[in-house]
Amino acid sequence: MTPAISLEGRAAAAYDAAAATFDRHRALPEPVPAAIRAAVLAAVAAPSPRLLDLGAGTGRVGHAFVAAGDDYVGVDLSLGMLREFAVRPDGRAPLAQADGERLPFADAAFDAVMLIQVFGGLRGWRRVLGEARRVLGPSGALILGRAIVPAGGLDARLRERLALILDELGVAPHTKNTREDAQQWLATQASRSTRVVAATWTAERTARAFIVRHRTGARFSALPQEIQGEALRQLADWSVATFGSLDAGAHEQHSFELQIFQFAGACSGESLPPTRSGADAGSPMRTCTPNKGK
Ligand SMILES: C[S@@+](CC[C@H](N)C(=O)[O-])C[C@H]1O[C@@H](n2cnc3c(N)ncnc32)[C@H](O)[C@@H]1O
Repeated sequence: MTPAISLEGRAAAAYDAAAATFDRHRALPEPVPAAIRAAVLAAVAAPSPRLLDLGAGTGRVGHAFVAAGDDYVGVDLSLGMLREFAVRPDGRAPLAQADGERLPFADAAFDAVMLIQVFGGLRGWRRVLGEARRVLGPSGALILGRAIVPAGGLDARLRERLALILDELGVAPHTKNTREDAQQWLATQASRSTRVVAATWTAERTARAFIVRHRTGARFSALPQEIQGEALRQLADWSVATFGSLDAGAHEQHSFELQIFQFAGACSGESLPPTRSGADAGSPMRTCTPNKGK
C-alpha cells in the first residue's frame, strides 16, 4: 500500500508535547548516563573538554555532565524538552534553544559534539553534521550515541509489527531513521572511527509498557488520533495473540553504544552539490576535507 501520511513532517513540534512524559517512559538505568559521560570523556583528548550536546532533550543523558560540573552546553530545537532539562535537580544546566542546522556558536568552539539518540526524527542531517563539524575543534570528537535492543527481543518485534500495521493504515514508515546514512557519510569523512559500548543492562519489557510508551512518542503522537488508536488496538490484539498477555514480561539485554568520529582535516566552508533524495536534497552545507590515514 502506498503510504499517504508522513510521520516526519510534524515530528519536530511534537517533542514539545512529548516532553512532560519523555523521562517517565524512556529513563535509562541510574548508572548509564554516568557511564556514557565516562566513555565520552575518555574519547576526548582535552583535559577539561568543552562539550556540546546537540539535541540534548530533557537532559536524560546530559544531567550526568551537569552534575559533575563539566564544561557542557545543551542545545535543542524543542523548548518543551529544554524546560524539562532546566528543572532537573542536578544543577543549573547551560542550555540554548537552537536548530542544529544553524548553531549559534563560533567555529571550533567545542572539543566534542554529542548527538545522542537524535536521528529518529531528524530532517536535515547533512546540515546538522556540517554544523557539528564546524563548531568542532581540529582534534575534537563527534559522538553518535544510541540504545541497542536485541534484534529478536520483545521491543524489536513490537516495533516491526507496528511498522506493518502503520503501513497497512497508509502511514509512511515511522522507523525511518537517518542515523545509518549519517554514519556512512561520517565514515567517509573521518580519519578515525571507534565504537564503544558504554553500558549494558537487563531491561524488563512488556507489550503494555511498549504501547504506553509509544503513545507518548514524539512522531507517533503527531499522527491523527484515529490512526494512533487503531494502530495501538491492532498491536494490542496481536500482542495478546502472540505473547498470551499484554503483561507477559521479557528480560532483555540492552546496551548503549557510542560511535566516535575524529577528523584530521580542516573545515573549508564550501558547499556540497545537491544530494540525491530526502529532506536534505539540494541543501548547502560546509564540507570538511578528510585526511585519511593519520
Ligand atoms: C529522542 S530525543 C533525545 C534527547 C536526548 N539526546 C536523550 O538521549 O535523551 C531527540 C531530541 O532531538 C531534538 N532535535 C531534533 N531535531 C533537532 C534539530 N534540528 N536541532 C536541535 N535539536 C533537535 C528533539 O527536539 C529532541 O529533544
